Amino acid sequence: MPVVIAHVSDIHIDAGPRAAERTRRVFDHLDALPADLDLVVLTGDIADHGLDSEYETVRQATATRHPLLVCPGNHDDREAFRRALLGVPASTGPINQVHRTDRFVVALCDSSIPKQDDGFLADETLAWLAAELDATPDGVPVLIGFHHPPVELHTPFVDKIRQFGEERLAEAVAGRQNVVALLAGHAHTAAATHFAGLPLLVAPGVVSTIPLPWEGERALHLDHQPSLAFHVIDDRHRITTHFRSIV
Ligand SMILES: [Fe+2]
Ligand SMILES: [Fe+2]
Repeated sequence: MPVVIAHVSDIHIDAGPRAAERTRRVFDHLDALPADLDLVVLTGDIADHGLDSEYETVRQATATRHPLLVCPGNHDDREAFRRALLGVPASTGPINQVHRTDRFVVALCDSSIPKQDDGFLADETLAWLAAELDATPDGVPVLIGFHHPPVELHTPFVDKIRQFGEERLAEAVAGRQNVVALLAGHAHTAAATHFAGLPLLVAPGVVSTIPLPWEGERALHLDHQPSLAFHVIDDRHRITTHFRSIV
Protein backbone atom coordinates (compact mmCIF):
# COMPACT_ATOMS: atom_id res chain seq x y z
CA MET A 1 0.00 0.00 0.00
CA PRO A 2 1.37 3.42 -0.87
CA VAL A 3 1.64 6.16 1.76
CA VAL A 4 -0.91 8.91 1.02
CA ILE A 5 -0.42 12.33 2.60
CA ALA A 6 -2.68 15.36 2.10
CA HIS A 7 -0.82 18.67 2.00
CA VAL A 8 -2.75 21.85 2.83
CA SER A 9 -1.27 25.32 3.21
CA ASP A 10 -1.91 28.99 3.87
CA ILE A 11 -5.34 28.89 5.43
CA HIS A 12 -4.84 32.38 6.99
CA ILE A 13 -7.70 32.10 9.47
CA ASP A 14 -8.87 35.52 10.70
CA ALA A 15 -11.96 36.92 12.47
CA GLY A 16 -14.15 36.70 9.33
CA PRO A 17 -16.00 33.64 8.05
CA ARG A 18 -14.37 33.31 4.60
CA ALA A 19 -11.02 31.68 5.41
CA ALA A 20 -12.58 29.38 8.02
CA GLU A 21 -15.27 28.27 5.56
CA ARG A 22 -12.77 27.54 2.80
CA THR A 23 -10.57 25.61 5.23
CA ARG A 24 -13.53 23.62 6.54
CA ARG A 25 -14.48 22.71 2.95
CA VAL A 26 -11.01 21.23 2.44
CA PHE A 27 -11.10 19.30 5.71
CA ASP A 28 -14.68 18.12 5.08
CA HIS A 29 -13.44 16.73 1.76
CA LEU A 30 -10.63 14.88 3.54
CA ASP A 31 -12.94 13.59 6.27
CA ALA A 32 -15.37 12.28 3.63
CA LEU A 33 -12.68 10.12 1.97
CA PRO A 34 -13.48 6.42 2.16
CA ALA A 35 -10.12 5.48 3.70
CA ASP A 36 -7.90 7.00 6.34
CA LEU A 37 -5.01 9.16 5.13
CA ASP A 38 -1.58 8.43 6.50
CA LEU A 39 -1.19 12.10 7.47
CA VAL A 40 -2.44 15.61 6.76
CA VAL A 41 0.35 18.20 6.63
CA LEU A 42 -0.40 21.91 7.03
CA THR A 43 2.57 24.07 5.99
CA GLY A 44 2.07 27.40 7.69
CA ASP A 45 0.29 30.71 7.63
CA ILE A 46 -2.31 29.16 9.88
CA ALA A 47 -3.57 32.26 11.73
CA ASP A 48 -3.55 35.47 9.70
CA HIS A 49 -2.45 37.68 12.62
CA GLY A 50 -1.08 35.03 14.99
CA LEU A 51 -3.85 35.67 17.56
CA ASP A 52 -5.04 33.20 20.19
CA SER A 53 -8.64 33.78 19.04
CA GLU A 54 -7.68 32.86 15.45
CA TYR A 55 -6.04 29.63 16.63
CA GLU A 56 -9.26 28.74 18.44
CA THR A 57 -11.05 28.99 15.08
CA VAL A 58 -8.24 27.01 13.43
CA ARG A 59 -8.86 24.12 15.83
CA GLN A 60 -12.48 23.90 14.65
CA ALA A 61 -11.72 24.48 10.97
CA THR A 62 -9.00 21.80 10.86
CA ALA A 63 -10.59 19.21 13.16
CA THR A 64 -10.16 15.89 11.33
CA ARG A 65 -10.19 12.16 11.88
CA HIS A 66 -6.79 11.90 10.16
CA PRO A 67 -3.47 12.52 11.92
CA LEU A 68 -2.47 16.17 11.45
CA LEU A 69 0.93 17.87 11.65
CA VAL A 70 1.19 21.66 11.43
CA CYS A 71 4.11 24.08 11.16
CA PRO A 72 4.08 27.89 11.46
CA GLY A 73 4.53 30.45 8.69
CA ASN A 74 5.38 34.12 8.64
CA HIS A 75 1.86 35.11 9.70
CA ASP A 76 1.98 32.88 12.78
CA ASP A 77 3.14 33.67 16.28
CA ARG A 78 5.15 30.95 18.01
CA GLU A 79 3.84 31.69 21.49
CA ALA A 80 0.18 31.80 20.47
CA PHE A 81 0.69 28.78 18.17
CA ARG A 82 2.01 26.73 21.09
CA ARG A 83 -0.52 28.02 23.62
CA ALA A 84 -3.73 28.12 21.61
CA LEU A 85 -3.17 25.52 18.87
CA LEU A 86 -0.80 22.89 20.26
CA GLY A 87 -1.90 23.30 23.88
CA VAL A 88 1.66 23.33 25.23
CA PRO A 89 3.46 26.02 27.26
CA ALA A 90 4.22 29.15 25.22
CA SER A 91 7.84 29.83 24.25
CA THR A 92 9.56 31.65 21.42
CA GLY A 93 11.92 28.99 20.03
CA PRO A 94 11.36 27.30 16.64
CA ILE A 95 8.41 24.88 16.46
CA ASN A 96 9.89 21.74 14.88
CA GLN A 97 7.76 18.58 14.87
CA VAL A 98 8.06 15.08 13.51
CA HIS A 99 5.48 12.43 12.61
CA ARG A 100 7.18 9.07 12.78
CA THR A 101 5.80 5.69 11.70
CA ASP A 102 7.55 2.52 10.59
CA ARG A 103 6.45 3.25 6.97
CA PHE A 104 7.43 6.92 6.63
CA VAL A 105 8.61 10.00 8.50
CA VAL A 106 7.56 13.64 8.02
CA ALA A 107 9.73 16.30 9.64
CA LEU A 108 8.26 19.81 9.68
CA CYS A 109 10.83 22.55 10.25
CA ASP A 110 9.99 26.05 11.45
CA SER A 111 11.32 28.40 8.74
CA SER A 112 9.70 31.48 10.25
CA ILE A 113 11.65 34.40 11.71
CA PRO A 114 9.63 36.22 14.42
CA LYS A 115 8.24 39.55 13.11
CA GLN A 116 9.65 39.02 9.59
CA ASP A 117 8.09 37.79 6.36
CA ASP A 118 11.11 36.01 4.89
CA GLY A 119 12.32 32.64 6.13
CA PHE A 120 15.43 31.00 7.55
CA LEU A 121 16.16 27.68 9.25
CA ALA A 122 17.80 28.42 12.59
CA ASP A 123 20.90 26.45 13.63
CA GLU A 124 18.72 24.83 16.31
CA THR A 125 16.29 23.68 13.61
CA LEU A 126 19.00 22.21 11.39
CA ALA A 127 20.49 20.38 14.38
CA TRP A 128 17.02 19.00 15.20
CA LEU A 129 16.56 17.89 11.59
CA ALA A 130 19.95 16.14 11.54
CA ALA A 131 19.03 14.25 14.72
CA GLU A 132 15.67 13.19 13.26
CA LEU A 133 17.34 11.98 10.06
CA ASP A 134 19.96 10.12 12.11
CA ALA A 135 17.14 8.44 14.05
CA THR A 136 15.41 7.20 10.88
CA PRO A 137 16.32 3.66 9.79
CA ASP A 138 17.54 3.07 6.24
CA GLY A 139 14.64 2.18 4.01
CA VAL A 140 12.11 4.47 5.69
CA PRO A 141 11.21 7.37 3.38
CA VAL A 142 11.33 10.90 4.79
CA LEU A 143 9.54 14.08 3.70
CA ILE A 144 10.91 17.38 5.01
CA GLY A 145 8.49 20.31 5.09
CA PHE A 146 8.59 24.00 6.00
CA HIS A 147 6.64 27.13 5.13
CA HIS A 148 9.10 29.11 2.99
CA PRO A 149 10.33 27.62 -0.33
CA PRO A 150 14.14 27.79 -0.51
CA VAL A 151 14.18 28.84 -4.19
CA GLU A 152 12.59 31.46 -6.43
CA LEU A 153 9.32 30.28 -7.99
CA HIS A 154 8.87 33.11 -10.52
CA THR A 155 6.39 34.69 -8.15
CA PRO A 156 8.05 38.11 -7.68
CA PHE A 157 6.28 39.07 -4.45
CA VAL A 158 6.98 35.75 -2.74
CA ASP A 159 10.50 35.35 -4.17
CA LYS A 160 11.56 38.42 -2.17
CA ILE A 161 10.44 36.77 1.06
CA ARG A 162 11.45 33.16 0.36
CA GLN A 163 13.69 31.02 2.61
CA PHE A 164 17.23 32.37 2.56
CA GLY A 165 20.42 30.65 3.68
CA GLU A 166 19.26 27.76 1.54
CA GLU A 167 22.79 26.38 1.12
CA ARG A 168 22.51 25.23 4.75
CA LEU A 169 19.42 23.19 3.90
CA ALA A 170 21.19 21.73 0.87
CA GLU A 171 24.03 20.65 3.16
CA ALA A 172 21.56 19.14 5.64
CA VAL A 173 20.03 16.83 3.01
CA ALA A 174 23.24 16.00 1.11
CA GLY A 175 23.86 12.26 1.14
CA ARG A 176 20.61 11.52 3.00
CA GLN A 177 19.37 8.67 0.83
CA ASN A 178 15.95 8.29 2.44
CA VAL A 179 14.78 11.88 1.94
CA VAL A 180 12.35 11.68 -0.99
CA ALA A 181 11.05 15.26 -1.28
CA LEU A 182 10.73 18.71 0.26
CA LEU A 183 7.33 20.31 0.94
CA ALA A 184 6.51 24.01 1.26
CA GLY A 185 3.70 26.55 1.20
CA HIS A 186 3.85 30.37 1.35
CA ALA A 187 3.61 30.91 -2.42
CA HIS A 188 -0.19 30.60 -2.72
CA THR A 189 0.19 28.68 -5.96
CA ALA A 190 0.51 24.96 -6.67
CA ALA A 191 4.06 24.48 -7.92
CA ALA A 192 6.65 21.76 -8.49
CA THR A 193 10.37 22.35 -8.89
CA HIS A 194 13.54 20.90 -7.37
CA PHE A 195 16.15 21.83 -4.82
CA ALA A 196 19.37 20.06 -3.86
CA GLY A 197 18.50 17.21 -6.19
CA LEU A 198 15.11 16.64 -4.55
CA PRO A 199 11.56 17.41 -5.69
CA LEU A 200 10.29 20.60 -4.05
CA LEU A 201 6.49 20.47 -3.95
CA VAL A 202 4.55 23.60 -3.08
CA ALA A 203 0.93 23.32 -1.94
CA PRO A 204 -1.60 25.86 -3.19
CA GLY A 205 -2.97 28.47 -0.78
CA VAL A 206 -6.42 27.68 0.57
CA VAL A 207 -7.33 31.32 1.18
CA SER A 208 -6.13 32.82 -2.11
CA THR A 209 -4.06 32.27 -5.27
CA ILE A 210 -1.21 34.51 -6.37
CA PRO A 211 -1.29 35.87 -9.93
CA LEU A 212 1.69 34.86 -12.08
CA PRO A 213 3.63 37.54 -13.99
CA TRP A 214 2.51 36.29 -17.40
CA GLU A 215 -1.14 36.29 -16.34
CA GLY A 216 -1.15 40.09 -16.53
CA GLU A 217 -3.08 40.65 -13.32
CA ARG A 218 -1.96 42.14 -10.06
CA ALA A 219 -4.59 41.32 -7.46
CA LEU A 220 -4.70 38.05 -5.54
CA HIS A 221 -7.29 35.67 -6.92
CA LEU A 222 -9.97 35.21 -4.29
CA ASP A 223 -12.41 33.38 -6.55
CA HIS A 224 -10.34 30.26 -7.24
CA GLN A 225 -11.56 27.16 -5.48
CA PRO A 226 -9.64 26.08 -2.38
CA SER A 227 -7.25 23.28 -3.27
CA LEU A 228 -4.66 20.95 -1.85
CA ALA A 229 -2.00 18.43 -2.83
CA PHE A 230 -1.95 14.66 -2.30
CA HIS A 231 1.55 13.18 -2.10
CA VAL A 232 1.80 9.44 -2.74
CA ILE A 233 4.94 7.47 -1.86
CA ASP A 234 5.14 3.99 -3.34
CA ASP A 235 7.10 0.93 -2.25
CA ARG A 236 10.12 2.11 -4.23
CA HIS A 237 9.93 5.53 -2.51
CA ARG A 238 8.93 7.30 -5.68
CA ILE A 239 6.74 10.30 -4.96
CA THR A 240 3.77 11.32 -7.09
CA THR A 241 1.81 14.50 -6.39
CA HIS A 242 -1.77 15.23 -7.38
CA PHE A 243 -3.21 18.70 -7.01
CA ARG A 244 -6.94 18.76 -6.27
CA SER A 245 -9.44 21.63 -6.20
CA ILE A 246 -12.47 21.34 -3.93
CA VAL A 247 -15.72 22.14 -5.70
FE1 LIG B 1 0.39 32.72 3.10
FE1 LIG C 1 3.68 32.97 4.09
